[in-house]
Amino acid sequence: MAKILVTGGLGYIGSHTVVALMANGHQVCVVDDLSNSSLNVLEGISKITGKKPEFHQFDLRDISATRKYFKAQQSLDGIIHFAASKAVGESVDNPLLYYHNNLGGLVNLLMHTSAKNIIFSSSCTVYGIPDVLPITESAPIKPAMSPYGNTKQIGEEILRDTTQADSNLNVIALRYFNPIGAHESAWIGELPIGVPQNLVPFITQTAAGLRSELQVFGHDYPTADGTCIRDYIHVMDLALAHVIAVERLLNQSNLERFELFNVGTGSGSSVLEVIESFERVNGVSLPYKLASRREGDVVEIYADTTKAFDVLGWKAEQSLDDALKSAWLWERHVRNIF
Ligand code: UD1
Repeated sequence: MAKILVTGGLGYIGSHTVVALMANGHQVCVVDDLSNSSLNVLEGISKITGKKPEFHQFDLRDISATRKYFKAQQSLDGIIHFAASKAVGESVDNPLLYYHNNLGGLVNLLMHTSAKNIIFSSSCTVYGIPDVLPITESAPIKPAMSPYGNTKQIGEEILRDTTQADSNLNVIALRYFNPIGAHESAWIGELPIGVPQNLVPFITQTAAGLRSELQVFGHDYPTADGTCIRDYIHVMDLALAHVIAVERLLNQSNLERFELFNVGTGSGSSVLEVIESFERVNGVSLPYKLASRREGDVVEIYADTTKAFDVLGWKAEQSLDDALKSAWLWERHVRNIF
C-alpha cells in the first residue's frame, strides 16, 4: 500500500482516480481548493469506498499553505497532480488566471514536495491540429490553440526540465483525450459549475430539462456526417490508467524519468454518433439543432494507444455506450430524476 496525494482530488477526473486508487489498496490524501468542486464529492467517495480520504483545502498557489502542508507530509510515495483550471474558452478570456493557476500551482508543488514520483494531467490538446491520425506520442507539438492548451504544453516542459535537473524525480504525463461518464454507482460524476462547455454534460443537462436544446457546433466539417470527431474515454478507464502509471513509478519500472502516454480508446466518434448512442442506450430523445462551428475546434482527433498498451498493459475496456449510460445515471441521480 502506497500513500498517494491527489491534488484536485475532488474534481471530475480526480475523484474517480481517488476511488480507483482506494479500490487498489492505496492510502489517499486529497488536496483541493474547492474552486470547481464541493465537499459533497468527499461524501460520494466515502459512500463508494467505505472510507473518507484525508482532505486538506487550500490553493497550491498559496506558498505558505503549500509549504506547511508538505512539511507535515514527509512520507508521500507519489503525487497525482490534477489541480488546474480546464475551460478552454475561459482561458482565452482570462489567460493570466490559467498561467497563474495551472503553472504557478505546479511550480509551487514541485518546489515544496519531497515526493519523487509524479503523474501529470496533460491533454491531447498539446497536439494542436494533427497531421496524421491516429496520433502517436511522437507527433510534433503544435502551437497551442488556447492558453489552457499552452499551460499543458509548458507544464510538460517544466516537468521534463525538472527531471533533468533532479535525478531522483520520476514523472509520467498522461495525455487524455475526451473523458466522459461517471462511476457506475452514480455517487460521483461530472458536475460543471454554470453552463457546461463540454459535450456530454451539456447533453445530460439537456435530457434532464435544464437546457432547452443542444447545439451541434458545425455540420459541414470534412467528416462522414459533417460533425467533429473525438476520442471519448470512460472516466473509470482513465482513472485506472493513473493507478497503473503511479504503480509503475513506485515499482521503479519506468524506462525513462519522464514518460508520456496517450490515454484514449483509439477510436473516434462524431458528435452525431454520441447523440445517437446517448438516445439509444438511455431510451430518451434529445432536442438538438445543427449550429455554426465553434471557434478553435479541431476537426478530428483520436489516439494511437499502442504505447499505453505495450508499455503499461492498459487499454480502455468500456464503450461509448457504457460511458453515456453512466453519465445519464449520474445526472438523474444529481437531479433526483427517477
Ligand atoms: C476540450 C479541449 C481538451 C480539454 C477538454 C475539457 C481542445 C482541442 N480540447 O475538448 O483539451 O481537456 O475540452 O475541458 O481544446 N460540442 C457541441 N456542442 C456543445 C459542446 C460541444 O457540438 O454544446 C462539440 C464540440 O464542437 C466538439 C465536441 O462536441 O466537436 C467535443 O467538445 P468538448 O466536450 O467541449 O471537448 P473538446 O473541445 O474536444
